[in-house]
Amino acid sequence: MKIDILTLFPEMFTNVFDESIIKRAKEMGKVQIQIHNFRDYTTDSHNKVDDTPYGGGCGMVLMCQPIFDCVESIKTDESKVILLTPSGVPYKQKNCYDLAKEKHLIIICGHYEGFDERIRSIIDMEISIGDYVLTGGEIPAMVLVDSIVRLLPGVIKDQSHIEESFQDNMLLDYPTYTKPRVYKNMEVPEVLLSGDHKKIEEYRKNESIRKTKEIRPDLLEK
Ligand code: ADE
Repeated sequence: MKIDILTLFPEMFTNVFDESIIKRAKEMGKVQIQIHNFRDYTTDSHNKVDDTPYGGGCGMVLMCQPIFDCVESIKTDESKVILLTPSGVPYKQKNCYDLAKEKHLIIICGHYEGFDERIRSIIDMEISIGDYVLTGGEIPAMVLVDSIVRLLPGVIKDQSHIEESFQDNMLLDYPTYTKPRVYKNMEVPEVLLSGDHKKIEEYRKNESIRKTKEIRPDLLEK
């Protein structure tokens, strides 16, 4: 998979994609990630990328030209263009699985007060990572990349995401423990030490349901 990210703050991405699983995925050749500063594409003599809104109002609005030109220079027939804004469709695990099947993602990070509405004419999908407003699309872009890259075949052991929350009937993960058996008077549940795999499986299923009922009852209603 190829991922191109369009931003005015490329340095925010320094290190984020050079650690842990994403670093490994890049080294294995599973993903190529490129960061583009769309200010480099402006034709304005003062390097402007934004201007005041028509009709008045406060703040600055991102202009079409730098973003259109940057997208046009990297887009192919296989590209899916995503705009990150708080007014996009809510991002869910299902979207991660769908996007992980794409060959090329172009992710545009919005900023400041907003962007010229005509930018929407060149995008395929508008995504919000949650019902809150961030200062820009950079952190949401990192969320997208992380959640997608880990699903690419061969990046992590397949079993680990078959078992996780949201995959199996929209249940939250069951609790897990490791050594020592007792820590600050807190004990590992006896059943996990029993070696009885059927009982362990049953315990985990029940715990998943109990946790989901307690924390995310809305998932069970679905
Ligand atoms: N930009 C600002 N807030 C955002 C959000 N919640 N999701 C995606 N992009 C954003």
